[in-house]
Amino acid sequence: MLNSSTHKITPMKILVTGGAGFIGSNFIHYMLAAHPDVEIVNFDALTYAGNLENLTAVEREARYTFVKGDITVAADVAALFAAHAVDAVVHFAAESHVDRSLHIGPEAFIRTNILGTQLLLDAFRAAGARGAKRPRRFVHVSTDEVYGSLGPEGRFTENSPIKPNNPYAATKAASDFMVLAAHHSYGVDAVITRCSNNFGPYQFPEKLIPLMIANALEDKPLPVYGDGQQRRDWIYVADHCQALDYVLRQGRAGQVYNIGGGQDVTNLEVIRLILKLLQKPESLIQHVTDRPGHDRRYAMDSTRIETELGWRRQFDFAAALKATVDWYRQNSAWWQCIRSGQYSKYYETIYGNR
Ligand code: NAD
Ligand code: DAU
Repeated sequence: MLNSSTHKITPMKILVTGGAGFIGSNFIHYMLAAHPDVEIVNFDALTYAGNLENLTAVEREARYTFVKGDITVAADVAALFAAHAVDAVVHFAAESHVDRSLHIGPEAFIRTNILGTQLLLDAFRAAGARGAKRPRRFVHVSTDEVYGSLGPEGRFTENSPIKPNNPYAATKAASDFMVLAAHHSYGVDAVITRCSNNFGPYQFPEKLIPLMIANALEDKPLPVYGDGQQRRDWIYVADHCQALDYVLRQGRAGQVYNIGGGQDVTNLEVIRLILKLLQKPESLIQHVTDRPGHDRRYAMDSTRIETELGWRRQFDFAAALKATVDWYRQNSAWWQCIRSGQYSKYYETIYGNR
């Protein structure tokens, strides 16, 4: 666990953007439980991916405040910083789904991921100039996808070239550069994290693992893109949240930290494990047209965060996958509600003609 005597930063009031989404809501639960001295302001536009039901357990908690607002609207962001003197920002808000960036279009991704990040950085800097009592930090939550795709060997380090291959990844790479520029040009205390594929409770059922669990539970076909031999470095969301806590408190300003699950597995292996856990037949697997420009393999080298900050992954992939399958089985109302709404139109757009 974290050793508090080594913390350089002790944030009390943290602005979380995108806290109604998958990782953001897990992070809020994690931080409120782990640190009795932490207050959270959750700023979220409640797009299709934002769901306040993820936070019902904390909504009456005095240390938690929700503010509805859009990071791409400068007036919303200015009002937020005027109303809340925060010590740190942990920035999750983004358009996060690769398929949407490919099939619906990159415009929303450019707006939210690039412009939104820039407006937040500007407001953060302006608030700092008005005088902050405690050290202030901006943690930018980025992704391994900025590095592009790997061959069969090796892992991404923080020095790997930035070579994004899809519109989502390109906008995340651009936002990383804006954050580094704010640090370099204006001395903003900013840190970037690049994490691999997360899974766990509250993940929107458009992403591989929750989609496959939900489809299998409903005996629907499981759409596998191409040959299913693409490899991802899965990490349980609680491990990512703890890594972000370490970076927030102890990370070096201007630094990038890779965060990974430590093993990469093929999509077909993941899907077969899910089917086995649910005791469903492999005949549900249906190979469909591949994702355009599909990245073949991601794998992260987490040496820097492990050696510099002492973070270690706590959860084993197989055990965490079982816990996740159990969560979706026990919380079917949560994902059924999502799947019965607007999402069904999206499903037709992405999978209708494959
Ligand atoms: P998500 O799609 O589940 O949630 C995104 C949240 O951001 C939603 O609550 C949404 O309402 C909010 N949001 C979107 N646009 C907004 C705007 N303009 N203003 C305010 N709020 C807005 O995403 P996630 O999977 O939880 O990912 C969170 C962050 O982590 C993203 O920045 C993503 O790039 C990064 N990341 C995700 C993964 C992963 O595997 N999911 C891995 C590495 C990094
Ligand atoms: O690597 C980190 C990234 O992981 C994050 O930055 C993104 O926000 C997050 O969405 C995720 O991106 P991926 O594209 O890797 O995740 P996704 O769950 O969409 O897909 C995982 C793999 O499964 C990928 O190889 C595509 C494949 N897939 C996905 C879906 C939705 C299928 O074969 N069938 C599907 O229906």
